[in-house]
Amino acid sequence: MEKLIINGPTPLKGEVNISGAKNSAVAILPATLLIDGVCTINNVPNIMDVKLSCQILEGLGAKIKWIDKNSIEIDTRNITNTIAPIDLTRKFRASYYLIGSMLGRKKEIEVGLPGGCNLGARPIDQHIKGFEALGAEVEITGGNVRATAKHLIGSNIYMDIVSVGATINVMLASVLAEGTTIIDNAAKEPHIVDIANFLNTMGADIRGAGTDMIKINGVKSLKGGQSYSVVPDQIEAGTFMLAAIASKGDLIIKNCITKHLECITAKILEIGGNVDMNGDKLRVWCDKRPSKAIIKTLPYPGFPTDLQPQMGVVLSLAEGTSIINESIWESRFQYTNELNKMGAQITAQGKSAIFEGVTKLSGASVYSTDLRAGAALIVAGIAAEGRTEVYNLEHIDRGYENIEEKFRNIGADIVRVVE
Ligand code: UD1
Repeated sequence: MEKLIINGPTPLKGEVNISGAKNSAVAILPATLLIDGVCTINNVPNIMDVKLSCQILEGLGAKIKWIDKNSIEIDTRNITNTIAPIDLTRKFRASYYLIGSMLGRKKEIEVGLPGGCNLGARPIDQHIKGFEALGAEVEITGGNVRATAKHLIGSNIYMDIVSVGATINVMLASVLAEGTTIIDNAAKEPHIVDIANFLNTMGADIRGAGTDMIKINGVKSLKGGQSYSVVPDQIEAGTFMLAAIASKGDLIIKNCITKHLECITAKILEIGGNVDMNGDKLRVWCDKRPSKAIIKTLPYPGFPTDLQPQMGVVLSLAEGTSIINESIWESRFQYTNELNKMGAQITAQGKSAIFEGVTKLSGASVYSTDLRAGAALIVAGIAAEGRTEVYNLEHIDRGYENIEEKFRNIGADIVRVVE
């Protein structure tokens, strides 16, 4: 079993480069199934979810060639299977994008019900509603989802809730459908725009991504022959921003889209931190104890749920009493038990948590309960006094590229060891 050993506290100082966005990459890779050709994807984060996505694509007949550690050439001319490797698809959430892509490409697909972080109930009813509106039939049996269609015909689809996954999945299914599809009450996250840009680069006709109404005019085929670069990871950038604040450090965060970070920046300024935006980089620093805040997680452009645990670490150390309301996931406060082992004073109940700020955290053995919780525990370990051991690294490795190396390069005393 691997664990991270962190000796703190260390104020993080220096420069860090942000990788390509996990949540974009895990949608763009299945989206290549819509292409009858070869394409190259650059700025792909080298993470476990990407490796799994590649294995699944290979299982369906695609040919994958890693050009370097962040670039992949994908040949999807010969897609032979319509049953995805079931065990692999169960390992992570984004395997549900195979349904939209393969409905478009082959009008048929079977995948395992998607797994991923345990954040509470993760229904896919809005995805299914969208597929059915386009003319597909979807069956769930024995833990598998099977979707088939004779024809896919464009339709007007109103999403009952704002869902990132359902918006992308219905977009994927409608790219090659006959006629026009309109997705109303669509999610607006940066990676939705990224997937639309990718598909348009390959020949799709998608308009309005990034607003709450997306219009997709079906096209006959996507040809490939192009390369595309994945957008920088908003959540990784936000994780380092909050790590700078929690550790009272001073970081230059490079290769990011600062527009995507405005909601986090606003909160950092509110609690007394400093942010200086300059082109595709930003400087974040903090030389005093942050002050309390009230946070509610919301779909983009609101405060992202995927930065809630990292913000929880900052608020654990803030002056005064803070409140976080988690409006997206019902079980996203499991990390607070781990932070309390480090001396935090957090009371979580249902979708709310109260943080009584403490002056210091102390090292402890802690277990990541999901991907972002794991990142938060690393940040806590860097800010805490003494030795922290972080376990269950498989969660963290799913979504962060070289995380300990990146933190080590900015001064953290952090090593990965095999127990
Ligand atoms: C994506 C992200 C995840 C992030 C989340 C919210 C990926 C691979 N994952 O997850 O990191 O935390 O967005 O920003 O991009 N819901 C339904 N029915 C559905 C679909 C969703 O009720 O059919 C509900 C969910 O239970 C949740 C809310 O809608 O309460 C938002 O979920 P959604 O935006 O779909 O999250 P994911 O796409 O799974």
